[in-house]
Amino acid sequence: MPSAKIAPSLLSGDFAKLAEDCQYMVECGADYLHMDVMDGHFVPNLTLGAPIIKSLRKHTKAFLDCHLMVSHPEQWVEDFANAGADMFTFHIEATQDAPALIESVRKTGMKVGIALKPKTPASAVLDLADKVDMILVMTVEPGFGGQSFMADMMPKVQEIRQKYPNLDIQVDGGLALDTIDQAAKAGANVIVAGTAIFKAESPKDTIALLRKAVDEQ
Ligand code: DX5
Ligand code: ZN
Repeated sequence: MPSAKIAPSLLSGDFAKLAEDCQYMVECGADYLHMDVMDGHFVPNLTLGAPIIKSLRKHTKAFLDCHLMVSHPEQWVEDFANAGADMFTFHIEATQDAPALIESVRKTGMKVGIALKPKTPASAVLDLADKVDMILVMTVEPGFGGQSFMADMMPKVQEIRQKYPNLDIQVDGGLALDTIDQAAKAGANVIVAGTAIFKAESPKDTIALLRKAVDEQ
């Protein structure tokens, strides 16, 4: 299994001091900064878009892992590339032509990921997984931070891990010190955590413990 990457979700931070929160997370050991992009249509919440990524890029060199919970993700590839995003993860449910979208993201030089909502089976992405850098298995219904981890998503992670031993598999939603072992055991190695990291007494220790749980598998 590839090594752990810990990705704090800035959704749990303070958007009014986004650059500071990003800097702090990097100092605490974050590998990626997870940026939740929501359009109020694909999910019932509205967050940020490419203009904010562009502003943020001027304040950090960190890896910006952009999770697009939007309808028509095709529409935003150029904008996110120009803004300086490092990874563009779109939802398989939001596109009619995933291979073409993967290709257009690749052309920009960004890494590409595909996300699955809880009700979407692994079979929806198994044939595409060798064309992408990461598969994101949602462990909550996308839209909000602070929800409960869905342990019943673990067979989906296992199924993907079995077929792709070297692929980055991300889990997102409800990951914390009491749920990380299940996710790591199933084969997830890229761990998004918002509440668990930002509300921790020591975000640094929490990041280290999440990493340890994955790397000790
Ligand atoms: C939910 C987002 C997550 C969210 C996770 O739609 O994709 O990234 O911030 O938050 P926690 O870790 O609090 O469940
Ligand atoms: Zn996310």
